[in-house]
Amino acid sequence: MKIRNLIDFNDMSLEEWDELKQLAFRIKRSPHEFRDTCRGKIMATLFYEPSTRTQMSFQTAMMRLGGKVIGFSDPNASSVSKGETLRDTVKIVTGYSDILVIRNPIEGAAYASALYSHVPVINAGDGGHLHPTQTLTDLMTITELKGKTEGLTIGCCGDLLNGRTVHSLLRALVRFKNNRFVLISTPELRLPDYVLSELTRNGNSFVEVKTLEECIGDLDILYMTRIQRERFRTPEEYAKQAGVYRLTAEKMKLAKPDMAVLHPLPKVDEIDYEVDDDPRTMYFEQAENGMFIRMALIARLSAAERTGRAPVYPLAEGPFCKNPRCISNHEKYLPRLTKIVDGEERCCYCDQKI
Ligand code: NCD
Repeated sequence: MKIRNLIDFNDMSLEEWDELKQLAFRIKRSPHEFRDTCRGKIMATLFYEPSTRTQMSFQTAMMRLGGKVIGFSDPNASSVSKGETLRDTVKIVTGYSDILVIRNPIEGAAYASALYSHVPVINAGDGGHLHPTQTLTDLMTITELKGKTEGLTIGCCGDLLNGRTVHSLLRALVRFKNNRFVLISTPELRLPDYVLSELTRNGNSFVEVKTLEECIGDLDILYMTRIQRERFRTPEEYAKQAGVYRLTAEKMKLAKPDMAVLHPLPKVDEIDYEVDDDPRTMYFEQAENGMFIRMALIARLSAAERTGRAPVYPLAEGPFCKNPRCISNHEKYLPRLTKIVDGEERCCYCDQKI
């Protein structure tokens, strides 16, 4: 694999994705063949935000490859609570390990970490921005169920504004051809512009609707998400959105017999308990695939050589990012890096327009 880090699915070419996916299917078929692939390697997991699946699937993935794991899941129990910068934590921890997995509530934190790392960095979720390894999981599951990731009608329902899994998945799916995206949300929780503006590439198209009932019968895949309570400014704003969408057995009767229901999990109240027993729900299988695809990713990325000292960047130079949730506005020493996408200047950390 040519890429060194996985910060965004789009860091990867489609050929690299294809190779990774084939490897994940091989691992799933015969995991014992890979039990020594990472023997002697150490993975560090820095989880600044709660996680069950992502953290445990990364940890078990490394253990099943024969490697070991260090890290924290409660930053209050580390030097972060003493005020250590992200840059210092990354420099220290990557001095000890062969691969770094990071989850952080601030957008662009994984990109920032990779600037200062001696070893490959994997983004396990950066605030409401991206979650590329969930995308790998989702694409693997869609391929397994439908045999392809193009020409599908895919509904995404719930908190499209704050749901990083949806942002990552849609930005990946537009790289394949002729998908039709049905975006099901309230006007307050619409998809952010930086994702919306990409959805018509490669013959893809989208519609925005308000209810599940009006579109469920057309869908090949329904990707449900939870309302992201922790991203709301006030409990009142959350309360207005909570419980708006609910997938019930009645609504499932309107869906195609082979529609698949996916969910990155955890689910709260957006799927009725009885729907869990419908054979079209695939989220538990999806979560298991997450371990196999992460095994493939760790196996490939941890094969890279360690670099010596991380490069030196000019301190805090460049145009300010207007996004208050962007890491460049929190860790003040970071260089303010931008890139041009479709003729527009965007922040390298959080992708928002400058
Ligand atoms: C998701 C996340 O953390 O973004 N969970 C996960 O990693 N599977 C989805 C969520 O928290 O709603």
